[in-house]
Amino acid sequence: MCGIFGYVGGRTDAGKLVIDGLKNLEYRGYDSWGVACKIGTEIRMEKDIGKISTVDSSAFADACSLAIAHTRWATHGGVTKRNAHPHMSCDGTIAVVHNGIIENYAELRRELEAKGHAFQSETDTEIIPHLIEEELKSTDDFASAVRNACNRFEGRYGLLALHTLSQTLVAARTGSPLIVGGTRKDGYFIASDIPAFMDYTRTVQYLDDGEMVVTDGRSILFTDIATGEERPKREIEITWTIEEAQKGAYKHFMLKEIMEQKESITRAVNQDEEQIMTLAEAIRNAQGTFLVGCGTAGKACMAAEYFFSVIAGKHVNFAPASEFKLYHHFLTSRSLLIVVSQSGETADVLEAMKIAKSKGSKVLAIVNAKGSTIDREADYSLHINAGPERAVASTKALTGQMAVFILIAYALADKLQEGKTLLLETGAKINDMLNPRYMERIEKLAERIQRKQDLYIIGKSWNYPMAMESAIKIQEVSYIHAEGFAGGELKHGPIALIEEGTPCIALVGKDEVTTDILSNTIELKARGAFVIGVAPERYDVFDEWLKVPEGGAAQPLVNIIPIQILAYFLAVKRGKDPDMPRNLAKSVTVK
Ligand code: G6P
Repeated sequence: MCGIFGYVGGRTDAGKLVIDGLKNLEYRGYDSWGVACKIGTEIRMEKDIGKISTVDSSAFADACSLAIAHTRWATHGGVTKRNAHPHMSCDGTIAVVHNGIIENYAELRRELEAKGHAFQSETDTEIIPHLIEEELKSTDDFASAVRNACNRFEGRYGLLALHTLSQTLVAARTGSPLIVGGTRKDGYFIASDIPAFMDYTRTVQYLDDGEMVVTDGRSILFTDIATGEERPKREIEITWTIEEAQKGAYKHFMLKEIMEQKESITRAVNQDEEQIMTLAEAIRNAQGTFLVGCGTAGKACMAAEYFFSVIAGKHVNFAPASEFKLYHHFLTSRSLLIVVSQSGETADVLEAMKIAKSKGSKVLAIVNAKGSTIDREADYSLHINAGPERAVASTKALTGQMAVFILIAYALADKLQEGKTLLLETGAKINDMLNPRYMERIEKLAERIQRKQDLYIIGKSWNYPMAMESAIKIQEVSYIHAEGFAGGELKHGPIALIEEGTPCIALVGKDEVTTDILSNTIELKARGAFVIGVAPERYDVFDEWLKVPEGGAAQPLVNIIPIQILAYFLAVKRGKDPDMPRNLAKSVTVK
């Protein structure tokens, strides 16, 4: 979602540096950008709608050692230059960039307007510099004014602020991630995500919720926003490489990440067995286990309901994180909430965790991003170890999340080794499947159906959530209208939509529901559908067959991969950028 990056230190190219750094966060999705550079005792501010990748950073070469920049994903107020951050105080001395939503902004805006403040935008963010300006009437200290302002906000924020008369960068967070990079020697970088500053430093310190940080580039002080008490921090070295976070030989991150499933599933399986057994025990003993996630991670949770039921005979409950609010009626100190998130920063998931914690329930997180807020705030964490995922459309994270769930389900059935063997074999089969001939075949199919307006996908049992996930993947990147259904639901409505030549995909395995899903596929065919079968075996009803290996309980991991590839090629054939779909963001830090 929105990207934030600021720098203060000994370098004199801060303006250029923050713009270049934000280009490394492009994958998060945004619609406008802006920068504020402190030059002498003035602020140079530039902002615009559109892509930061097209901005020539060398145009920001003025001698500058303190700058903040932002990429905005519109929430309050449309996509306009005026609404882009930074926002400034009336007197032009304070500049602020902000992620999140200040929920009581309307009330604060009325209060500030009554005191004579004039607003230029429709955003909630703009109240921040004005409120700091107001607070500066009762203190000389810029950081204290920021603290006092923050203490009046309701909602979520990760913000950076600077003042023309102070060589300090002030940051505060409640609900939106901010990470500090750098050392006294390098100066300090503060960003919403690590890739922004990976070219300069690998030393990081995490700012937690309710904390702020003040730095002049040489010294740094972390404090509690509410009390002002110092919060000691530990410097952590990042171990992953910038290469891992870059495209390499691939044209798009989405394709690179699809191909990385050759190894990422095996990495997800490589868990501490004792920990898996302990967590399985926690599920066994819990009085109610709830699974939540958003988007693709939510589909992994839905598939997990089937894994737990079929493999371990255990009932668990899935809800999309945004729908979890009313589940608090079911939660007690003996409930267990399992949250799934690639980024570890999704606002709705954090909200679900808060609800569970308020009831004393324990939280297990299955995350990709180590050190993320969800990772740190959960009682237990399992990492899927997929490496950085940058394309907005999630691919390798999904298969890693499902692999971990399958492992836990087998552990719960006291068959951990059997589960592990199945997953490692599946990983090896996926490695073989992802060969150039296979890719070409799917590319040809994409060529054939690229001009279709609608596409339907059916599945049954654990392939039902995969049918829904297939629809998300195709919608997200190709903008073709796609919907996923349970095969048995077809005749209760959706079948009315099928016309001669409508492409329909059937996700098939070799299990107790194979006959049923094939019957549903025949129903589609009888209405003229062009049937694409994803299955370990060819059946007569298929017009096109995308062969997949047999995967047993891991069949959904295998079946989703050709659809990820199909979605990718549909986007490319239709001239869309699969890495940056319109209106979407990689990390959704607003509710
Ligand atoms: C966004 C992304 C999706 C992702 C979802 C949940 O909508 O575009 O790809 O599945 O957020 O993200 P998370 O980081 O919590 O897995």
